[in-house]
Amino acid sequence: MNTKIIKINENEIDDELLKEAGNIIKAGGLVAFPTETVYGLGGDAFNKESSLKIYTAKGRPSDNPLIVHISKIEDITKLSDDIPDVAYDVFEAFWPGPLTVILNKHPLVPDETTGGLNTVAVRFPSNKIAQKLIEASGGFIAAPSANLSGRPSPTVAKYVVEDLNGRVDMIIDGGDSDIGLESTIIDLTSTVPVILRPGYVTEQDLEKVLNKVDIDKTIIDNNSSLKPKAPGMKYRHYAPKGDLTIVHGENDKVVDYINDRLSEAKNKNLKTGVLATKENTLKYKADLVKNIGARDDAKEIAKNLFRALREFDDDDIQVIYAEGFENKGLSMATMNRLLKAAGHKEVNL
Ligand code: TXA
Ligand code: MG
Repeated sequence: MNTKIIKINENEIDDELLKEAGNIIKAGGLVAFPTETVYGLGGDAFNKESSLKIYTAKGRPSDNPLIVHISKIEDITKLSDDIPDVAYDVFEAFWPGPLTVILNKHPLVPDETTGGLNTVAVRFPSNKIAQKLIEASGGFIAAPSANLSGRPSPTVAKYVVEDLNGRVDMIIDGGDSDIGLESTIIDLTSTVPVILRPGYVTEQDLEKVLNKVDIDKTIIDNNSSLKPKAPGMKYRHYAPKGDLTIVHGENDKVVDYINDRLSEAKNKNLKTGVLATKENTLKYKADLVKNIGARDDAKEIAKNLFRALREFDDDDIQVIYAEGFENKGLSMATMNRLLKAAGHKEVNL
């Protein structure tokens, strides 16, 4: 398949180009597009063939449901006929933005889009290119992250092209993603809403609107006998090609420990990398040290994580160490992705 790659500036959107992209989706094709979280791989959510094509293009298991993206709150009634009042408080507070809600699905939403579940995931993104594309394509875009299954989600168009060139009809390059981690997912079908995937919108943010919020236990403790409620959370994800280990502990000990492991790896002629906070960047003796932001800047760290993981691959790094972060607030989302990328390999000093 020939993939058309176009560039659009979010501040100066070319409506003609978006019309062309929208028509591709209306006709059953696939378009990768920017959102404020990560790039998405979009198809018409009401066309079951389109959803099947998305699974094929990504190499993704078809029991892993897609998020439906809308550009107007009122369109939610086409996706669910069972919307609790509290959902509207959530929309008011967080939409458009990086939050996905799970609701009971409307019978007309194809099973192919929801992976056979009787619930549907819905998000109203704030990125203007995404909003205009949704409008131009008829209002409902099913879109997972625009990476091949298992790879880190793309936050720059270059990595969308690397994964999907030749597998989709069009890729829209809209610049770097602002947030860099996928949306928070909250299940509103249970009496007490449950966070199924941590993200930029934190538990504390949600508690301001919902009286009580639970967190899916599989996010916090890695007990493999528990089954996550978001099917996609069970898969190994985001993994760089190199062997990644996370190191927690007092700062100087972490630096010393990592440097010792790096020299061992170098003795074996392995190419080494470190995912480091800004404060420590100059202390590591590795082939590639990626600065992902100052330790107290959780937003910057979240934004840079996926890109840094990809950059280790660009340099064929074989052994990677990452500094650990606290499991709370926005850092909970970062740690959730980092742990998956490392296949839960961590060291506590
Ligand atoms: O920020 C985002 O959410 C990005 C952008 C493109 O919007 N999308 C994204 O999609 O991260 P994806 O497919 O990579 O992740 C969707 C997650 C998966 O873990 C999936 O299992 C879960 O959402 N999910 C989708 N529908 C669900 C449902 N009905 N019930 C529970 N989990 C669901
Ligand atoms: Mg994904």
